[in-house]
Amino acid sequence: MTTPSYSIRKAVAADFEAIDEFDMFAGDRQEEISRGECFVAVQGETVAGYLTTARSFYQNPFIAYIQVRDNQQRHGIGHALLAFAESRWPVEKIYISTEADNAPMLHLLQKRGYTPAGEILFIQNEPELVFCKLR
Ligand SMILES: CC(C)(COP(=O)(O)OP(=O)(O)OC[C@H]1O[C@@H](n2cnc3c(N)ncnc32)[C@H](O)[C@@H]1OP(=O)(O)O)[C@@H](O)C(=O)NCCC(=O)NCCS
Repeated sequence: MTTPSYSIRKAVAADFEAIDEFDMFAGDRQEEISRGECFVAVQGETVAGYLTTARSFYQNPFIAYIQVRDNQQRHGIGHALLAFAESRWPVEKIYISTEADNAPMLHLLQKRGYTPAGEILFIQNEPELVFCKLR
C-alpha cells in the first residue's frame, strides 16, 4: 500500500473548520490555533491530523491533544506529529498524557520511547496516564 505524502505546519485560522470535523476532544481548538500552539499534518488539501503543544506543564512542553482522522490512521501520521513536536524541543523533556484504556496511543508512546511518569485521577473516567520523553 502506498502512503500518501503529507507535510506538517503550524495551523492557521482557516484550518479550524477542517480540524473541528474530526476533533473528538472537549471544547474546540480555536484558542490553541490563535496562540500558535496547534500543528497540522496536511495531505494535499486535507488536514489529516493535528497536535497541540504548549509550555504548560510546570514550564515544560506538554502535548495536550493529538488526533488523526479515522480514515487516515495507521499511516504513520501520529508518529510524524510526535517526531515534529520532539524536534521543536530537542533538549527538553516533553510531557504527554492519555487515558489508561487508549491502546493505540499507549502503543504509539511506547514505540516513540516515552517513559511512564505517573497518573492523574478524576479528570476522566479512566486514570489519565502521564508520559515523558527524556533526552
Ligand atoms: C493515537 C493516534 C493519534 C495514532 O495515530 P496514527 O496516525 O494512527 O498512528 P501511526 O500510524 O503513526 O501509528 C503508530 C503506532 O501507534 C500504534 N497504533 C496506532 N493505531 C493503533 C491501533 N488501532 N491499535 C494498536 N496500535 C495502534 C502502533 O504501535 C503504531 O505503529 P505500527 O503501525 O507500526 O504498529 C490515533 O489513533 C488517534 O487519533 N486516536 C484518537 C485520538 C486519541 O486517542 N489521541 C490520544 C490521546 S491525546
